Amino acid sequence: MSDTTFQQCLNLNCRATYDVGQSFFACPACGDLLDVCYRWDRLPLPRRLAGFESRWATRHLPLDFSGVWRFRELLGFCEDRHRVTIGEGQTLLQENDGIAGYVGSKTGCVFLQYEGLNPSGSFKDNGMSAAFSHARLAGAHHVACASTGNTSASVALYAHACGLQCTVFIGAGRIAYGKLSQALDYGAQTIQIQGDFDDCMRRVKQVCTEKRLYLVNSLNPFRLEGQKAIMYRVLEGLRWRVPDWVVVPGGNLGNSSAFGKAFAELKELGLIDRIPRLAVINAHGANTLFDLYENQRLRFNGGAVAENVIDGYYRRLNEQGYRPQTLATAIEISRPVNLKKCLRSLEVCNGLVREVTDDDILDAKAAVGRHGLGCEPASGASVAGLKQLRQQNVVGRDETVVCILTGHQLKDPNVTVRYHSEGAGAFSNRPTEVGDDLARIIEAMKL
Ligand code: F0G
Repeated sequence: MSDTTFQQCLNLNCRATYDVGQSFFACPACGDLLDVCYRWDRLPLPRRLAGFESRWATRHLPLDFSGVWRFRELLGFCEDRHRVTIGEGQTLLQENDGIAGYVGSKTGCVFLQYEGLNPSGSFKDNGMSAAFSHARLAGAHHVACASTGNTSASVALYAHACGLQCTVFIGAGRIAYGKLSQALDYGAQTIQIQGDFDDCMRRVKQVCTEKRLYLVNSLNPFRLEGQKAIMYRVLEGLRWRVPDWVVVPGGNLGNSSAFGKAFAELKELGLIDRIPRLAVINAHGANTLFDLYENQRLRFNGGAVAENVIDGYYRRLNEQGYRPQTLATAIEISRPVNLKKCLRSLEVCNGLVREVTDDDILDAKAAVGRHGLGCEPASGASVAGLKQLRQQNVVGRDETVVCILTGHQLKDPNVTVRYHSEGAGAFSNRPTEVGDDLARIIEAMKL
């Protein structure tokens, strides 16, 4: 038993608590989501966030080098000997004035948090360093996940680092090649199911229950503890100033859930004096959160979520045989597992949700590429969402905004090459074909 950390069910009518060493992906009493909770007064916290800066001088120590564990007091659920790191979180918060111009914000107001710099090329590594630390604590031997690609790549890498067996479930034909190549290269057992992510998620839960495997999807509350660190690094990059807005793509809603938890805790601890607003951006073809939050006005409501609205929504999706569809395959999800936690974040952060089309996503993604940082399509959703919010004047021209770029440009080269080759996008950069002839080559260069 830990005297500083426990797990607790989110459901107001349940609130069951569990030891930190146990591993569940749902409350055994009621099936709802679990949170990791801390008795903060028993944890050694710095008095100011700037206190963490002393670790910049000791980056030769792996836990101080880690962009997750250098904030370990804020996710102190295990001892150092359990903590896993492969050097995650060496990310960049870049002021990007090109993108500020693209979305219609004032110079100096838009920042990109580039999570593509993680070892597996996406933000997932933040969560995995924490989830695998818990897997060690809990004595797991075999981990599993469902994935649209990035989770599987990250899981495969961390499983290797920890010497654990690993199985990843992906929808056949619905994964970008960069990601599939990673899972295969890192040695994950890869099961391609004839179905989409939501089908894979359902199956992996069944397999994990039946075979007692350790689930590393973001249903696992320890994943979200690691992903809180993305916000700590954003604050660090802004020299501990709180931005006005954080804009993030929404898929399974792990990030948005983690970000809200991070800010709620920091505020409770007096380490920040205000909480930024959160904008979660869905792809139009996978817009469950947008529909429920903006159209049906579903709210967290202090924890009393109208379950019947959610159940009815999913029932209708089933009746219509609805399948989500977007070129941003990372967020092609219609039954986001962290829905309720995301609603809580939206409440904590006075948040809102928008949907963007695939064309908006691809143009925004190309704009990011043109202005110096590549990203994958799902990440482009955050910039496309900000552009829309600027057009609606919901975000002010001189408000400080951080867009999260969740994955690296090389994750999905097919979509990128098609966008540029077809030539219809705002930033399309068509390659010119020419015979192997010097005069023709020079002519084609239009010098
Ligand atoms: N961006 C990228 C690049 C992702 O890979 C994902 C999720 C998201 C955004 C959405 O994040 O779930 O926290 O809302 N990818 C998962 C996967 C589902 O399996 O790799 P979220």
